[in-house]
Amino acid sequence: MKIDVKAKAYAKLNISLDVLARRADGYHELRSVMQSVGLCDTIRITSAENGLCVKTNRAYLPSDEKNMAAKAAAAFLRHTGIECEGLMIEIDKKIPVCAGLGGGSSDAAAVLRALNKAYAAGLSAGQLQTIAATLGSDVPFCVVGGTSLAQGRGEELTPLPDIPVFYVVICKPVFSVSTPELFSRVRCEKIRLRPDMDGLIDAIARKDQKGIARRVFNVLEDALPKGGDEIREIKGTLIDCGAMGASMSGSGSSVFGLFDSEENAVYAFRVLKSRFTDTFLTKTTPRIEIGEALNEDWPKA
Ligand code: C5P
Repeated sequence: MKIDVKAKAYAKLNISLDVLARRADGYHELRSVMQSVGLCDTIRITSAENGLCVKTNRAYLPSDEKNMAAKAAAAFLRHTGIECEGLMIEIDKKIPVCAGLGGGSSDAAAVLRALNKAYAAGLSAGQLQTIAATLGSDVPFCVVGGTSLAQGRGEELTPLPDIPVFYVVICKPVFSVSTPELFSRVRCEKIRLRPDMDGLIDAIARKDQKGIARRVFNVLEDALPKGGDEIREIKGTLIDCGAMGASMSGSGSSVFGLFDSEENAVYAFRVLKSRFTDTFLTKTTPRIEIGEALNEDWPKA
């Protein structure tokens, strides 16, 4: 069966992120409210003759099975038992790489959604998320996006109501942060300031925009090996331009600001874009609905 399918891979933000403990498996126990935004990569998957191949508009990204998108395709085919000679995955990347925005994770999640549709495999969101969890901690969230509380290593998701729409300005400084290095610097017992996660979840339930924006917070900012001053400066600029709240996303180095005013967001975007190429103006997006499971037996163990 020949396929030709497109999907959008939305960036994610950690509206708030707390690290609770280091686990025996080397990962960290997290509590984070995650949110998808309209900034996205676009993916096209077509049938090919020879195995899995990835083409992107970023020369430094792998084009073979090391690419997260190819890993996702391989996992989907393995779990569903669908046979195919090969797939070409073309990715038009807009989400900056190594930025704390879940770019690679979102590409992988979009591949799962796209193949589910193209092969009419009928997997539910939960079944796709089971496959996604084998690919990375953020991939299950990226399958559906919207707003969720993420726990465990990030893969245990509790969907939250969609938040009131915010305009979002995202700015990535030139430096990048290694996620494993940053996590290895966290000393959980020494964290003194932690996010008010319960207050945030309550504000989301009440659709209280100010209450949400006031509680954006990321404990990983204090563990940064470098660039802390620049992160603080970008946050300051966002707030000065009218952001209701600003924080680093995930393991950075991207910083985001939440706005209820489009005018203020456009102003902040212009100010930061004049200094940082990787500056984006976008909006929060709702959860993606993926129908009911049609194949209860899939994914295979
Ligand atoms: O799951 P993923 O491959 O995205 O994680 C990348 C790295 O980030 C892990 O190898 C680990 O060092 C760190 N990490 C962590 N705790 C988490 C998620 C990621 O320590 N909950």
